[in-house]
Amino acid sequence: MSKLWGGRFQKQTDKLVEDFHSSIGFDQRLYLEDIQGSIAHAKMLGVQNIISIDEANTLINGLKELQEEIQAGQVKFDPAAEDIHMNIETLLTAKVGEVGKKLHTGRSRNDQVALDIKLYLQKETKNLQKLLLNLQKNILKIASENLTTIMPSYTHLQKAQPITLAHHIMAYFAMFQRDLSRFADCVKRANTCPLGSGALATTTFPLDRQMVASELGFADVTHNSLDGVSDRDHIVEFQATAAIVMMHFSRLCEEIILWSSDEFGFITLDDAYSTGSSIMPQKKNPDVAELIRGKTGRVYGNLLGILTTLKSLPLAYNKDMQEDKESFFDTIDTLAGCLLTITPMLATMRINKDKMLAGAQGGFTNATDVADYLAKKGLPFREAHHVVGKIVFYCLEHKIAIDKMTLEQFQKFSPIFGEDIYSSIDLQTCVNKRILPGGPAPVAVEKSIASGEKWLSDYRHRNI
Ligand code: ARG
Repeated sequence: MSKLWGGRFQKQTDKLVEDFHSSIGFDQRLYLEDIQGSIAHAKMLGVQNIISIDEANTLINGLKELQEEIQAGQVKFDPAAEDIHMNIETLLTAKVGEVGKKLHTGRSRNDQVALDIKLYLQKETKNLQKLLLNLQKNILKIASENLTTIMPSYTHLQKAQPITLAHHIMAYFAMFQRDLSRFADCVKRANTCPLGSGALATTTFPLDRQMVASELGFADVTHNSLDGVSDRDHIVEFQATAAIVMMHFSRLCEEIILWSSDEFGFITLDDAYSTGSSIMPQKKNPDVAELIRGKTGRVYGNLLGILTTLKSLPLAYNKDMQEDKESFFDTIDTLAGCLLTITPMLATMRINKDKMLAGAQGGFTNATDVADYLAKKGLPFREAHHVVGKIVFYCLEHKIAIDKMTLEQFQKFSPIFGEDIYSSIDLQTCVNKRILPGGPAPVAVEKSIASGEKWLSDYRHRNI
């Protein structure tokens, strides 16, 4: 076919080059945004008398028909028409005749593609925000149901202090809260309309940029035409936010994998979210969690890819920028896939409270509380720490837990110990007394849950 830009060429494009630089194979995902943008542009051209109102209406109706045909699967895109923008323009002209050739007045594919990407990013981010909000809702549910489910916490993957499952899972709530605000931020900064930037220097046609921006729901227009066509910061921010979400997922999934092992036994994954082995009949593997952990790598790769593509690009548009899309779409799909599986995997897992408690009872998780007991009775903490270190060594030698020592045994290490040591270092006490904001005591976690619920509903209100 002859190219829309073919005027100054004497030869056909080499077939290999045509395939190599054609993006229709992947950028057809932008068809809705492309049509939406073209409708707003055509309407404005009519209002501004750049084309007649009749011509504008013909273009708009043609574009709407085309949209329906694409949605009904009746349209076959042509790789020779290069990308989604020229495919749609060509199909429109075939449908409405010569007037179709007026659509591109005062516009370039450079501002067109920049617009499409921004619109698409806003739509897809909204969907991901909804999925993330749903995960958050489920995390709050698990937390409210496990306010008193005692489990060990870890540093260096060595047992540390007793906490509750509610407290532990609320750590992830905090992470996803930050991720949600990062997505909202990214959308906010992407909320400017580049249309009217033209190829890079705007145009002499009297476009109404503000009108197009508000037709398309943007808060403002972009304020520099070179930046308008060459800015892809929003994709970088999106990829970075997605990479951080995946990093959080990979930590959560790693814990799920550990917790579902026979060694921990803290949780049992639902059969629907586990898989078996083709040789070992007894196996039930946490493949979903492992796959999500694994997919983190590809999303990191996508972030590095776009950063590297944009590095050192001179202003304004360069064809390199066509490489922004596949990895962007891949991250969207990957993140949505992970969110759609991680949420029900968590919601359906069985929590083995007895195993969690047993885990907290071992490993001297109340040793800090023994030291605190002595410190509260006047012994400098550093000395108390030393005394308890000796107690732990003694207990290891005698294979007993600290709270199984007799009072006489305690008093051999320090005369400060009294009968109240037992109630002071009971695991319930250790948890219940940590009432500081952000702590594991049920009263403190209840407050975190309540403020989390409010935060979610405010967020939904403002962003969805
Ligand atoms: N398919 C192109 C892209 O995705 C559209 C912009 C093309 N502009 C150009 N001057 N060749 O970047």
